[in-house]
Amino acid sequence: MAEPRRVLILGGTAEARDLARRLAAAPELEVVTSLAGVTRNPERPPGRLRRGGFGGAAGLEAYLRDQAVACLIDATHPYAERISGNAAAAAAAAGVPRLQLLRPPWQAEPEDRWVRVRDTEAAALRLPALGRRVFISSGRQGIGAFRELSGHWFLIRLIDPPESPLPLPHYEVTPGRAPFTVEEEAELLRRQRIEVLVSKNSGGSMTYAKIAAARRLGLPVVMLDRPAPPAGPTVTEPAAAADWLRRQLQAAPD
Ligand SMILES: NC(=O)c1ccc[n+]([C@@H]2O[C@H](COP(=O)([O-])OP(=O)(O)OC[C@H]3O[C@@H](n4cnc5c(N)ncnc54)[C@H](OP(=O)(O)O)[C@@H]3O)[C@@H](O)[C@H]2O)c1
Repeated sequence: MAEPRRVLILGGTAEARDLARRLAAAPELEVVTSLAGVTRNPERPPGRLRRGGFGGAAGLEAYLRDQAVACLIDATHPYAERISGNAAAAAAAAGVPRLQLLRPPWQAEPEDRWVRVRDTEAAALRLPALGRRVFISSGRQGIGAFRELSGHWFLIRLIDPPESPLPLPHYEVTPGRAPFTVEEEAELLRRQRIEVLVSKNSGGSMTYAKIAAARRLGLPVVMLDRPAPPAGPTVTEPAAAADWLRRQLQAAPD
């Protein structure tokens, strides 16, 4: 029997785990999921797992060549801009077909009070007019932009407790890992007397409950724009990524 073909999934999302599950049963494939290694106890996908950065685009290119990767699927989070850029550059340089699996963004409903901003710096400028008790559920990346808001109080949800103090004048950390229900999110927002949320437009169902809870309570959401993804083939569903992979491997047999 021919050697299995190696597929690298850049992961860290529910879609990446879903795709790894779909591919796990195929004996002609060896599926390797790569995680950044930032979460202490990540949910493990089936198949092989590697953890930690590659060392930039050049490191990822070397990995693709050394490991004879046949196809690369970038299923990282829509806001994981650096690794997606590196994946595009490395795959092009190594001549490895690459697909981006990118979930669609949420769309605002009529009762939503979204304020769209480019980044956390722009969010910091909008907060004073919106409220002083702020819920941030998008991780600690970029929260330094709020450091000058000494009249504000921040509730920060993180999967793991931070190893060093956060660069904010007044805050509390609440531990938690999605998914949550709308009831749980509404109860948290009420209990903590939250007046405004800051959120990424992550898309998908895992973290949507806070958006629905904010709508229910009539709270504004400062929504950070998505970074532009690299050019190239893109699908929104794990099943479509599995189909793309099959077509690629049929078109270029060993
Ligand atoms: N950003 C978010 O809001 C968010 C939310 C949920 C999950 N995640 C997941 O968390 C990971 C890190 O997100 P981020 O926004 O910090 O990424 P990022 O800013 O795009 O990447 C920072 C660096 O982390 C390493 N890296 C990122 N993802 C990797 C992966 N899947 N495998 C190996 N190395 C990886 C790379 O290091 P080297 O340059 O050394 O290769 C990359 O340059 C991603 O895998 C993403 O899918 C992110």
